[in-house]
Amino acid sequence: MYHFTAPKGWLNDPNGVIHHNGVYHLFYQHNPYGSLWANMHWGHATSRDLVHWQHQPIALAPSPNPDSYDAGGVFSGCCVIDDEGTPVIIYTGVGAPNHHPQVPALAFGDADLQTWQKYAGNPIIQPPSQLNIVGFRDHTVWKEGDGWHQLIGSGIRGQGGCVFHYTSPNLRQWRYAGVALQGHSQQNNGRDTGTIWECPDFFSLAHLSDPAEPAHVLLISPIPLNQVQYFVGGWQNGQITPHSMGVLDYGTALWAPQSFTDSQGRRIMFGWLRESRPQHEQRASAWNGVMTLPRILSLSADGKRVLSNPAPEVQQLRRSTHRMPAQALIADQPHSLPIRSACCEIEIEIAVQTAHQIILSVRQSPADEEVTRIIYNHIDQCLWLDTTHARQNSASGQANAAPLVLTDHDTLRLRVFVDDSVIEVYANEGVCLSGRIYPARTDSDHISIRCNKGEAFIQQCVVWSMASTIF
Ligand code: FRU
Repeated sequence: MYHFTAPKGWLNDPNGVIHHNGVYHLFYQHNPYGSLWANMHWGHATSRDLVHWQHQPIALAPSPNPDSYDAGGVFSGCCVIDDEGTPVIIYTGVGAPNHHPQVPALAFGDADLQTWQKYAGNPIIQPPSQLNIVGFRDHTVWKEGDGWHQLIGSGIRGQGGCVFHYTSPNLRQWRYAGVALQGHSQQNNGRDTGTIWECPDFFSLAHLSDPAEPAHVLLISPIPLNQVQYFVGGWQNGQITPHSMGVLDYGTALWAPQSFTDSQGRRIMFGWLRESRPQHEQRASAWNGVMTLPRILSLSADGKRVLSNPAPEVQQLRRSTHRMPAQALIADQPHSLPIRSACCEIEIEIAVQTAHQIILSVRQSPADEEVTRIIYNHIDQCLWLDTTHARQNSASGQANAAPLVLTDHDTLRLRVFVDDSVIEVYANEGVCLSGRIYPARTDSDHISIRCNKGEAFIQQCVVWSMASTIF
């Protein structure tokens, strides 16, 4: 495998992602005692290159004292370096037994971020009592001017998801500063934004046409919807004013992404790719949940969309190379790619010409009993990830579409990462779809390409086998 997962047990949200003293740190929601969600700890791994990871000791565990504010779990949060150079985790502590109340708390780390002491003054904030809220958890914290700012994910009953804004001189004392952005279920230009916003992530991104005027981006994981959304806009006087909004990844596996700026100034994101297999199979599995590849976030040329692309470091994982010669694709004449693999990267560039659909099939069995399809539909200009036939005799799986408009001069450019049960598709400038698939057959490792009606031309097609990355 080349996607990160826990040494054993359950993994969900990335937490506290940070680049510190040349080391990338990836903390994550983790149950070390079982393969289902329970006993939330913070797992920890480190890397010098974003793709090869070393497991580290667990960073945070729930308190053994049943009356403690975090006896019911150590939920999601972030990590910053304070004004004295001390690493600080801001997380949500939850009480036992029903994960309530949900309260922000701090932990202080050593210089290597290896061992953590919970702050004696925890919890540091109480949920606002004057509002009828649903949930009060997950944190995005940053320094601005000489003060600290924090957004906490929540929702107001009857209205919709929102983020609360707090300010602090020192990370320990916080002052409530209001609702930074309030969603209205069904009323955001016709797009539902859900009832609770989990895992807000707030940061600025430079705009290519005006690097001096960065835009502010808020990522949210909106319950009960199943896709991560973004808002792009302004930030002033504690208010986010969105100019545009959209879906970060058009598949349904991504949840709770978190990003950070590294020493090269890149905005790098990891996200949780959720399982979609039946619960009894999850229970029986040794591990559960993986992280996305590291993704670089950027803004589209018009400044309205958030684009995702794999970090260049991922190319280090490429091993043997298999190339297919440039050639025409004639309707309904499939071409098999020159390698069978369930663990590979495929890079392909196609002039779509008159073809109605381009269909790249992966994790495919010889007679198509199982197949996962990446389909470019030229007619409605959408890119589909279709996992409905990923596993034989199973009705699970979905077909999800991302808008992808190609002009007459554009080719279709895909990078597809297949890693056993994980699939990540990146198209053209940064459209992204990811999913999870569970083929039952060991011979579901064929790869083929075809077009439906009309003709197309394959300009480039390369497949790489991939190295394993967790030590
Ligand atoms: C998102 C989430 C967070 C919470 C954590 C608990 O997946 O539900 O809101 O902090 O997971 O594991």
